[in-house]
Amino acid sequence: MKKDVKDVLFSEADIENRVRELAEKINDDYKGHDLLIIGVLKGANVFMCDLMRKITLPVQIDFIAASSYGHSTESSGVVKILKDLDYSIEDRHVLIVEDIIDTGLTLKYLIENFKSRSPKTIEICTLLDKPERRIAPLDVKYIGFKIPDEFIVGYGIDYAERYRNLPYIATLKPVVYMD
Ligand code: PRP
Ligand code: MN
Ligand code: MG
Repeated sequence: MKKDVKDVLFSEADIENRVRELAEKINDDYKGHDLLIIGVLKGANVFMCDLMRKITLPVQIDFIAASSYGHSTESSGVVKILKDLDYSIEDRHVLIVEDIIDTGLTLKYLIENFKSRSPKTIEICTLLDKPERRIAPLDVKYIGFKIPDEFIVGYGIDYAERYRNLPYIATLKPVVYMD
């Protein structure tokens, strides 16, 4: 697995520090409120686990499983909900947690879907943002790192369902995905 890695973009320490900063901002912004954080499976799983343990507010969690890439490196633009939320978000302060925003199509679909369920507020927190690739414009309140348009894996992010367990974020050697 490690042999497929080209460069480490963000080390475990880089990620931990940035996740702490994001959590501090969230703790501050939502002070005095309950927060419902919604992780977008599967990619956001690792980030969600680390972020939620640094949030000191009263928090509830839920997950939605959405996939637009399948085994491809290109977004299909068609978002499939594989598992919906367990609970109502009506009248709740909702924070959607994502690992990465690329075209924005996944989140555009989800945010419109969630808005129709009448949350009190709804915001997005993503660890990574690839602004160059955006097709659907989005208002993103919390961004960990902006990254260039390179294919990356690790810390929850996969290529063909592999590499999610790498503890850092890295680029892959082109030979891995070119064939
Ligand atoms: C990836 C990633 C985001 C989405 C971003 O998920 O985790 O959810 O793509 O791309 P977009 O902004 O172009 O929509 P994917 O569909 O690969 O499912 P996964 O989280 O299960 O890997
Ligand atoms: Mn995802
Ligand atoms: Mg994926």
